[in-house]
Amino acid sequence: MEFIDLIKLRKSIRLFQKTKIDHKLMLEILEAGRLAPSACNYQPWKFVVVNEPLVLRQIRESYPRDWFAGAPQVIVICGDYSESWKRPFDGKDHCDIDVSIATDHITLMAASKGLGTCWVCNFNPEKVSEALQLPANLVPIVLIPIGYPTETIKPEDKKRKPIDEVVFYNGYSIND
Ligand SMILES: Cc1cc2nc3c(=O)[nH]c(=O)nc-3n(C[C@H](O)[C@H](O)[C@H](O)COP(=O)(O)O)c2cc1C
Repeated sequence: MEFIDLIKLRKSIRLFQKTKIDHKLMLEILEAGRLAPSACNYQPWKFVVVNEPLVLRQIRESYPRDWFAGAPQVIVICGDYSESWKRPFDGKDHCDIDVSIATDHITLMAASKGLGTCWVCNFNPEKVSEALQLPANLVPIVLIPIGYPTETIKPEDKKRKPIDEVVFYNGYSIND
C-alpha cells in the first residue's frame, strides 16, 4: 500500500467488534510506537495495554461514552516528563510531541492491519492514573481504544482545510 493510502485509510473508529486483539498482533502494533523518533532519542513513553475487565471498567469511567465502553481494549499512552527533552533556550518540554508521534505510528500501524482506533484526550487523567497506579512521573496523555471495526475500513476523503490555507512558501501563499 502507498503510504498516502494508509494515511487516508486511518480514520477515527468508534464502533468495535467484541473480539480482543491477539497478543502477538498487539506487540506488532506497539513496535511501530517503539520505533518512533523522539527529541534526543529519549523515548519518554510507556504503552499500557488494558484488556482485563476490572481495569477496563475503571478506564472507561475516565471517559464515560457508550462508544468508548464498546472497545474491547484500550492502549493508555503515557509520557514520562522526568525523561523527556527540555529545550535549553526556554525549557519547553517535548514530551507531548514525542508521545504524539509514537501514537500516530501506532494508529497508522493498526489501520494497516485492518484495526480501528480513535485518539481520546478528553478523559479524566486522575482516574486513569489511579486505575493503573501510575507513578508520579508517568502521565496518561492519550487513550487509544483499539479493536476490529464493525465495518471494513475504507479510505475516504478527509474533511481538512484546503492546502493553500496551511502551506506557505517563504511566508507567501502558494497561489501567489
Ligand atoms: C489530540 C487528539 C485528541 C482527540 N480527542 C478525542 C476525544 O477525546 N474524543 C473523540 O471522540 N475523538 C477525539 N479525537 C479524534 C478527532 O475528533 C478526529 O481525529 C478528527 O475529527 C479527525 O477525524 P479522523 O480521525 O477520522 O480523520 C482526538 C484527536 C486528536 C488528534
